[in-house]
Amino acid sequence: MKVLVSGGMGYIGSHTVVELLELGHEVVIVDNLYNSQIDVLDKIKTITKINKLKFYEADCSNMNIMDNIFNKEQVDAVIHFAGYKAVGESVLKPLMYYQNNLNTTMTLASLSEKYKVKHFIFSSSATVYGDQVSPLHELMELKVTTNPYGETKKMSERILKDFSRNNKDMNITLLRYFNPIGAHKSGLIGEKPQGIPNNLMPYVTQVAKGIREKLFVFGNDYDTVDGTGVRDYIHVVDLAKGHIAALMNAKSNFNIYNLGSGVGTSVLELIHTFERVNGIKIPYDIVERRPGDLATVYADASKAKKELHWGTKLTLEDMVKDAWVFEKNLR
Ligand code: NAD
Ligand code: WQD
Repeated sequence: MKVLVSGGMGYIGSHTVVELLELGHEVVIVDNLYNSQIDVLDKIKTITKINKLKFYEADCSNMNIMDNIFNKEQVDAVIHFAGYKAVGESVLKPLMYYQNNLNTTMTLASLSEKYKVKHFIFSSSATVYGDQVSPLHELMELKVTTNPYGETKKMSERILKDFSRNNKDMNITLLRYFNPIGAHKSGLIGEKPQGIPNNLMPYVTQVAKGIREKLFVFGNDYDTVDGTGVRDYIHVVDLAKGHIAALMNAKSNFNIYNLGSGVGTSVLELIHTFERVNGIKIPYDIVERRPGDLATVYADASKAKKELHWGTKLTLEDMVKDAWVFEKNLR
């Protein structure tokens, strides 16, 4: 298949491109490098030693530019990762988030219709479930999220659902990711946040490297195993493989799948696993809860297992080990 990957230079996109290339697919990446660097392209080529890869530096919400790319490339599938993803920033700059995240989705959907693309896969998020009791299942009603970022994911889902009704020949799949962490085992690609990391794993690796003095654990008074927040961490390589499984096996006109492990891990459990596996102490302070955080979020991962024949294979140990190898290699 020939696959257009929007946001393919980013964290999850680059890992998915590697999996696609290794399975013999042809890939066209479109990314404006807003949150990624050009060297990722060479790293993908170093890992895969495959050249069936094209890159366009372009904004996926620009209809004219994207129309030219679709016209020229005639792709079979679109995997749409491009978007902004910082929850806190989305509260401060809501219009920027609505504009980019919705316009990229609508532009790509509209061109997929025009050029008769067969498969359209969208990066959604567990955040669309809002505050509900885990395990979270695809059939649950979506709830209000605490931030514009989450709303852009819910709105994009709704747009694509409505769009699917008039595009019965297209397989449209929404993938709701839980918490992707870790990196490719080569240590060449991974998550490289700009500035102070918002997410737990990159913060931990930066503390391990001495870039930050200590971790701040946001609350230890939740109703969880040790009082700290519980999340469903998924190795980014397993997540990338979930896209391939969706491309191959999601056969209906409109599909929704959780991509998670189905297992909850607390902040302290993650820290202690990191310390044990990598032999590095992570100093931390317990501080106030972070506004908007939920106590426990994990997936019911059974639907993807049953219908996509996909499940996570890599462990929390693999995740913390690979995240650290990537951080050590950086700069
Ligand atoms: P990322 O920021 O690393 O990658 C996104 C890529 O999209 C970047 O390379 C960025 O330069 C590019 N981009 C942004 N706007 C663009 C535009 N208008 N045109 C072209 N390129 C553009 O993020 P990620 O972690 O790889 O996330 C990928 C997708 O998955 C996003 O849609 C994100 O919301 C979603 N998601 C991420 C997580 C997570 O925890 N990382 C969880 C759930 C969902
Ligand atoms: C995990 C746990 C924190 C940082 C966010 C988005 C979500 C999704 C994934 C895209 C929580 C705790 C964190 C720190 C901490 N992204 N923590 N100290 O909040 O589950 O989800 O990223 O869709 O939409 O909201 O992930 O990694 O930020 O936090 O104690 O410095 O670690 O309180 O319990 P989260 P996270």
